[in-house]
Amino acid sequence: MQKLSIQGGVPLTGAIRVAGAKNAALPILAASLLVPEPVHITNVPRLNDVRTMVKLLGLMGVKTEAGEHDVRLDAASIGEPFAPYELVKTMRASILALGPLTARFGEARVSLPGGCAIGERPVDLHIKGLTAMGAEITIEQGNIHAKAGRLKGARIFMDTVTVTGTENLMMAATLADGETILENAAREPEVVDLARCLVAMGARISGHGTDVIRVQGVERLHGVTHSVMPDRIEAGTFLAAAAATRGAVTLEEAPVDALDAVIEKLREAGAAIAVGERTLRITMKGRPRAVSVRTAPHPGFPTDMQAQFIALNCVAEGAAHVTETIFENRFMHVQELRRLGAHIEVEGNTAIIHGVDRLAGAAVMATDLRASASLVIAGLVAEGETVIDRIYHLDRGYERIEERLGALGARIKRLD
Ligand code: EPZ
Repeated sequence: MQKLSIQGGVPLTGAIRVAGAKNAALPILAASLLVPEPVHITNVPRLNDVRTMVKLLGLMGVKTEAGEHDVRLDAASIGEPFAPYELVKTMRASILALGPLTARFGEARVSLPGGCAIGERPVDLHIKGLTAMGAEITIEQGNIHAKAGRLKGARIFMDTVTVTGTENLMMAATLADGETILENAAREPEVVDLARCLVAMGARISGHGTDVIRVQGVERLHGVTHSVMPDRIEAGTFLAAAAATRGAVTLEEAPVDALDAVIEKLREAGAAIAVGERTLRITMKGRPRAVSVRTAPHPGFPTDMQAQFIALNCVAEGAAHVTETIFENRFMHVQELRRLGAHIEVEGNTAIIHGVDRLAGAAVMATDLRASASLVIAGLVAEGETVIDRIYHLDRGYERIEERLGALGARIKRLD
């Protein structure tokens, strides 16, 4: 199994380009199922999860052609509207096929996603919403079976803010008969990017980016070319790494409007951040100050940046509280960071980090995507060598991370 070796202690300097957003690319690729014409998606990140989604669509009979950073798809007709367990177990986002398949083909069979390292992660709100739109849904042998004539517009209140739940129902509603109102909808930038793509396909959507989204169903959608937004979590990860190593980094093609909560916290930690039209420049002179965060749905502080900020606080001046409110088991990285000499206590859903003067390299293990990003940041700061095992987690969400951090001066390499 591949590992990463990092010799820490080098401040990151220089400039890199932010890749397309994983969590926008996945629903946008799934949206191709809604359209009986060719769709061309550009600025697509080269990630394992993207490959899995393209493979899943191909299995259903969608014609796919993947380039360096683009994908051409044609779902004029499909064979089997089925997402098998083998793929769903590797990527929960496969659930994003459920809404489009049910809306366009009146039938879908999607394996029920199992448990996940960071939490139980049920999909009850996806099912409840489709049922409200008239789908008949049963769970048999671990599969969600959905059957429907033309879906009907409905008013749907989601008890909990759910990103892929909002995306699934918004996609389904585009072909429904009548108006659908999604209340307590997710406001994440990736939801907005998907809505923009759907509107370009001919969908009638308003309110995306707010907690009430309205969708007026149409008979048919058409082909489109859409460029995926830059990845705000990848950008945030690089900013946190630059701050922890006391470096100076410029991010190009950066999602400058999608990172307010993260930028505000980095400034609180003592970083200087210059926001340009499509660039973000961070400079950290001296030791970071401890900064407390509490995760929340957008525009609150993103849960996908929680682990990276715990790593930053490990070497900061003072103590910080990091509270996780979205997922019930998202502190798996804490035990690994302690192996590098971090001083962290966990009380319920809050981690209390007491900054230390130095971390020391050791062998550690990645447990999930963002946990692995926090270990990379700690390894970049630690004295000596840190070896991170199970980096397949990292490859799910970061494109060629060792090359891009290497371009910023990091001493990092992949070990086979
Ligand atoms: C999306 O997951 C992201 N994944 C996650 O990013 C991200 O952490 C999460 O949103 C929150 O921002 C993709 O976009 C592919 P949720 P999602 O449904 O949609 C509960 C990463 O690191 N819930 O918004 O699966 C759920 O248990 C990944 O890139 C229900 O109770 O998350 C959780 O507590 C990790 N019932 C909360 O809502 C439901 O039907 C938010 O989950 C659905 C969700």
